Amino acid sequence: MYNIVSFFVALMSCSGYPCPMRKTVLNIAEAKGGTPIVCLTAYTARVAQILDQHCDLMLVGDSMAMVLYGMDDTLGADLPMMIRHGQAVVRSSQNALVVVDMPFGSYQASPEQAFTNGAQIMKETGCQAIKLEGGVEMAETVAFLTQRGVPVMGHIGLRPQAVNTLGGYKSRGHDNAEAEAIMDDARAIAQAGAFAIVVEGVSEPLAAAITAAIAVPTIGIGASAACDGQILVTEDMMGITDGRKPKFVKPYANVSPIMEDAVKTYAEEVRARAFPSADFVYQQRKKSA
Ligand code: KIV
Repeated sequence: MYNIVSFFVALMSCSGYPCPMRKTVLNIAEAKGGTPIVCLTAYTARVAQILDQHCDLMLVGDSMAMVLYGMDDTLGADLPMMIRHGQAVVRSSQNALVVVDMPFGSYQASPEQAFTNGAQIMKETGCQAIKLEGGVEMAETVAFLTQRGVPVMGHIGLRPQAVNTLGGYKSRGHDNAEAEAIMDDARAIAQAGAFAIVVEGVSEPLAAAITAAIAVPTIGIGASAACDGQILVTEDMMGITDGRKPKFVKPYANVSPIMEDAVKTYAEEVRARAFPSADFVYQQRKKSA
């Protein structure tokens, strides 16, 4: 009896081993061609808790540089930022696979640089994988990492870290040469050992062709339902981010006006001394005799 109880207690507390509930990179890889893989970005504890019940994979994306830190692009994200937020997301989830983005400049110089920084992200956050952007030119690095225990998610098509060389955030692969180059990227990253590949900002026929051509799941963002899974930036689909949204962002909620109304009412009540009213104030306790 004791043994059975302690077995289940150990299982529930996950002591010493990864929690059995959490998805693995193999679970994600095996989902190719099946029920679409549900992914969203998460940067903070509470958002991670809410997403964890519904998502297969949460990405601590370097989009946080723009969404949380107000930067103009993702290039300003750095390792300490990605690690801090990765820790918050891992700490606050038990179900979804957690992938942390490698920030710009932390992996492009060499496979060794990528390994040092990828291993640091994994050690310090407890995440299960890292993501990096790039195609054929990054294949050697992807192989180097995966052969040394760092699972890699690729990211091809529109690559936000290459905004300055690609000339903006435009969808890609509209002419044959560019479409073929993106297909080559997909093949190279899949063959190098990535367990899944984010395909961003490409037309439906190209996304379908890539998905059919490679053995690992494609996770689309602006790449149609032809992909094996989907990802969006959570704050975009919640209606929290400001400004013009890309065509592919479906507004599942409109949270900003709710927050604005709440803050407006709070400010009015504070100025009118209506808040805090008696319900929200500690009254003097009567001392017991
Ligand atoms: O950084 C990010 O949020 C991403 C997703 C948009 C795929 O890379």
